[in-house]
Amino acid sequence: MSLRGRGAILQAHLELRTRRRRESKVGNEYPRARSRTSDIDGRLACTQLMSPFDNGHMNHQPLTEPTKRVGRRDFWRREHPKFQSPHFRLEKSARIINRLAGSRECELLDVGCGPATLGRLLSSNIQYHGIDIYISDPNPRYLEYDFLEAPIAFADKEFDIVVCQGVFEYVGDHQREKLAEIHSLLREDGRFLVSYTNFDHRAPHFDPSYTNICGLQDFRLDLCTQFKINRSFASSYNWYHGQPRRAVMKAIQMPINVNLPIIGRALGVEFFFDCSPR
Ligand SMILES: C[S@@+](CC[C@H](N)C(=O)[O-])C[C@H]1O[C@@H](n2cnc3c(N)ncnc32)[C@H](O)[C@@H]1O
Repeated sequence: MSLRGRGAILQAHLELRTRRRRESKVGNEYPRARSRTSDIDGRLACTQLMSPFDNGHMNHQPLTEPTKRVGRRDFWRREHPKFQSPHFRLEKSARIINRLAGSRECELLDVGCGPATLGRLLSSNIQYHGIDIYISDPNPRYLEYDFLEAPIAFADKEFDIVVCQGVFEYVGDHQREKLAEIHSLLREDGRFLVSYTNFDHRAPHFDPSYTNICGLQDFRLDLCTQFKINRSFASSYNWYHGQPRRAVMKAIQMPINVNLPIIGRALGVEFFFDCSPR
C-alpha cells in the first residue's frame, strides 16, 4: 500500500477515535471498540474507507443498498477465475480436512466457496456443499446469495465440518454475527476451519477490497465467543507476504501444522484456526 493510502487510513483512524471519544461523552458508545486494542479502531476506519465495489478508491459516500448488492456480486464474478486452480492455502486446507474426516462419511459446508475448487481436492467420503455470492455452475449443493444480506445457513442442514477461507476479511463489521451463524450450523462434535490474514506480519498486505481488518488477537477473541480453538498456525511463511509458489517451498511448508512462536506472528501470511463449537 502506498504511503498516501496508509496516511489516509491513519487519518481516518484518528478522526474515528476523536469522534468516538466525543460521542461516548454524550452516551452514544461504540460497545465493541471500548474494551479492545487499537487494532479495532484500524478495522473500523478501514471498513468505512474501503469496499469491494468502490474499486479501492477512498469513498465516504455510502452507496444505496441495491447498488451495493449488485456491485458486490459483480466484483466477485470478475474475481472468481483467480480461484479456479488450487492455490497453496486451499491445498493445505484440503490436506487438513481430509485428515480431520478420516474415513467417516461427513457433510461439509464451504462458506465463500468461490468456484468450489476445494471440493475437487477432498476425499470422496466428504459431501461438499458451498455458499457464495456468485455461483457459476448451478448445482443443488451450492447456494448463491449474499451472506451480508441474510444469515449464513443452508436450508435447515447441519454440518460436520464448516470451512471459511479468505472470507472474513470481507465481512465488514459483521464478524461476531457471522461467527455465531456458523456456530449454529455445526453439529455438536463438528469442526470449523477458518483462515484469516495476518495483519501483524512484518510487511502486511492491505488489499483495497478488504472491509474487515483486525489483528490476530482480536480475531481470536471474537472466535472464542463461539468456539474453542484446538490449534492455530500459519498457513504459510513469507518474508514479503504471499503464498509459496515454488515446488520446494510448498513441499517444505505443507506439513507444518504447528504454531512457530515469534516467527509465526512476524512471517505467517495467513493463519488457520481449527475450532470446535463451545
Ligand atoms: C478471496 S475469495 C476466497 C475463495 C475460496 N474460499 C478460496 O479460498 O479460494 C472470497 C470468496 O468469498 C465470497 N464472498 C465474499 N463476500 C461474500 C458475500 N457477502 N456473500 C457471499 N459470498 C461472498 C466471494 O465470492 C469469494 O468467492
